[in-house]
Amino acid sequence: MYLHGSSRINQHRHLEIGGLDTTDLAAEYGTPLYVYDVELIRKRASAFKSAFDKAKVKAKVAYASKAFSSMAVIQVMHEEGLYLDVVSAGELYTAIAAGFPTERIHFHGNNKSPDEIRMALEHGVGCIVVDNFYEIELLDLFCRNLGVKMKILLRVTPGVEAYTHHYITTGQIDSKFGFDLSNGQADEAIQIVTASSSFELLGFHCHIGSQIEETTAFVLAVDEIFKRIKKWIEHLSYVPQVLNFGGGFGIRYTDQDKPLAPEIYVGKIIEAVKRKTNELHIEMPEIWIEPGRSLVGEAGTTLYRVGSQKEVPSVRTYLAIDGGMSDNLRPSLYQAKYEAALANKMTEPHDRIVTIVGKCCESGDTLIYDASLPEPRAGDLLAVFCTGAYGYSMANNYNRFPRPAVIFVEDGEAQLVIKRETCEHILQLDLPYKAKVTK
Ligand code: LLP
Repeated sequence: MYLHGSSRINQHRHLEIGGLDTTDLAAEYGTPLYVYDVELIRKRASAFKSAFDKAKVKAKVAYASKAFSSMAVIQVMHEEGLYLDVVSAGELYTAIAAGFPTERIHFHGNNKSPDEIRMALEHGVGCIVVDNFYEIELLDLFCRNLGVKMKILLRVTPGVEAYTHHYITTGQIDSKFGFDLSNGQADEAIQIVTASSSFELLGFHCHIGSQIEETTAFVLAVDEIFKRIKKWIEHLSYVPQVLNFGGGFGIRYTDQDKPLAPEIYVGKIIEAVKRKTNELHIEMPEIWIEPGRSLVGEAGTTLYRVGSQKEVPSVRTYLAIDGGMSDNLRPSLYQAKYEAALANKMTEPHDRIVTIVGKCCESGDTLIYDASLPEPRAGDLLAVFCTGAYGYSMANNYNRFPRPAVIFVEDGEAQLVIKRETCEHILQLDLPYKAKVTK
């Protein structure tokens, strides 16, 4: 069993996070419960930042808030000096409510609505990452109406797709995001935006995938972008000041994962960009990245109460907990793998193999196949590790389950940062049907 960050086994043989006994946390806040180790979030944030500082490279590290958006986490990211990436009115609204300075926010999305664009401009968002020709038109219109000149990046698809452990270079790019680098779309977009007084084109953005555990795909993306930059310098006299390489840095969900340290990912990107800028005799651009998962993923643990068990003789034992695909969709959606422990029996031998299932009415609601645990009993506390990214943010109300609470723990103190939903919340937008009056 691998314990992340401040997690450890205490003198009661219980799992402790942030200096607090998880059995006490579950008793106080109920289950399921997302527990975030704030110190670990801070460590990850500063590791990415200091990787750039040490290399003396101008950079911006933006937290991709889609991984987990809440006022509290955004406030922590602000304390750590990060920028913020949002992709919707909802994420932007959360950031504004958190008091995050809007000029440090970057707005993404492949189909930003007119309302979202207006909201971004009216609140003084620092940079919009423009995805397509339709958006250029819309943004141009709003900028003219509001008399604003907007800083933008153009999102490009470099033809490098990163998969979990592999990468492939696609001749033909098949992606809903961004301007194609190879077929002239990106060239055309540059010409349009540089000809308009509505835009200040800072440079380019690409994001090649998620949970990437090697650096080759990032280096390939740098190479592909610079092939085009060479042409843009020659034919359009355009030199980018900013290159944003997105997020996607991997984390350790299970012992199958071998993620790299933040400084390794950052170091390789810097090295590749330096090599290319030297070849082209241009100034080193500012490098931006936008990690999501790697900032919050390992910091999150979900606590569940163990309930029923079903043994299918000679097949398997199902162990049901009081949550499931409603609070962690990733196993059902991506066959994602997790590790778990019984938080109240941390030193007992893991001599049972059980399949951990949720309480949703769906056979696919399986959190972990063949987990090894001590003998489980109803009332035990199950901890599933590494649920901090895309857990709460993809949680849903399937079967009308209320979403769990979220707490932050740090230095022996716990803070409720998202309240537990109740059945009243589930019903709050419902309106009763008005029966037809029959004559
Ligand atoms: N930047 C852009 C433009 C992105 O599309 C993403 C993620 C990120 C940054 C942050 O990527 P990260 O560092 O978190 O890997 N729901 C999936 C992940 C979807 C990621 C979408 N884009 C999951 O649970 O694995």
